[in-house]
Amino acid sequence: MLSKKMALIKGGINSERNVSLVTGEAFEAALKELGHEYVVIDADKDFLHKLLDVRDQVDVALLALHGKLAEDGVVQGICEYIKLPYTGAGVLGSALGFDKYYFKQILKFHDLPSAKFELVHARQQNLDEVTTNFSYPLVVKPSREGSSVGVTICQSESDFFKGLKLASQYDSEILVEEYLEGQELTVPILIDRALTPIEIRPKVRFYDYENKYTAGNTEYIIPPELPEETIDELKTLAWKTHQACRARVYSRVDFRMHKGRPHVIEINTLPGCTPTSLVPKAAAHEGIQFPQFIQLLIDNAGLDYEGVR
Ligand SMILES: Nc1ncnc2c1ncn2[C@@H]1O[C@H](COP(=O)(O)OP(=O)(O)O)[C@@H](O)[C@H]1O
Ligand SMILES: [Mg+2]
Repeated sequence: MLSKKMALIKGGINSERNVSLVTGEAFEAALKELGHEYVVIDADKDFLHKLLDVRDQVDVALLALHGKLAEDGVVQGICEYIKLPYTGAGVLGSALGFDKYYFKQILKFHDLPSAKFELVHARQQNLDEVTTNFSYPLVVKPSREGSSVGVTICQSESDFFKGLKLASQYDSEILVEEYLEGQELTVPILIDRALTPIEIRPKVRFYDYENKYTAGNTEYIIPPELPEETIDELKTLAWKTHQACRARVYSRVDFRMHKGRPHVIEINTLPGCTPTSLVPKAAAHEGIQFPQFIQLLIDNAGLDYEGVR
């Protein structure tokens, strides 16, 4: 079989660009180790020209991207248009997973537990006059962002108004959520199953941007110190969530325990993927090393509309 040539796409033009560059480096090292031919494309403002220039020389787009215009179906749509198979979820799955408000509707429809929420429209409401029915602490977040950018855990009304202003810098739709008070956990999905859950214990505050990307700030426990039934429940809920939002190939479903039960926080359809990130960590725990993990993503790359002429 002829070996495939990759377009490794990294960077992007959003708040997660720097994280994507690190994921991109890790992917490139894996491609070298696997002996693949590849070109690297930085998805900056000239992305479309660069992609079209190499279109006829590549077989698969390996997406090392995160966040807006990347994890939300936009890049996937571009790949569909030029019939270039890509790694991860398709257009709809990416869009549903990225929009936290619509994702909440999917969870509700499938009876999957998650925090109660209210929606604020920053364009239609005066942010100084917004009221909430939740008590403190509560959480305010932009509907479409990532890496905890724009997320505030509010202890008081003054935090609430500050949180709304901050979130409105990133999206006009803002979610106000009840605070889930328990342990934080994540469950990676790879191909057709949930991998071992990981407990996430930031040493201070919550799992914010700094605690996500500063080595030593957060402790990761795999497997988590939880009863077998809870681990099984987490895996079942993660798999149902992955399917409900039409994710594909891989994803990471984040949870917090609340009143003794796991509650879904969100799904990441292009999760962070440096060798120390959580999905590769869980894969390694099950004997799948990083290059092998990348090979699985490549082998399962696809298009939503294979048959369109
Ligand atoms: N309802 C909630 N209760 C408690 N903590 C939350 C809640 N929602 C979010 N968080 C905290 O904020 C972090 C980021 O929120 P999340 O919804 O995952 O946004 P992002 O897409 O930016 O990662 C979570 O990992 C968690 O630590
Ligand atoms: Mg998150």
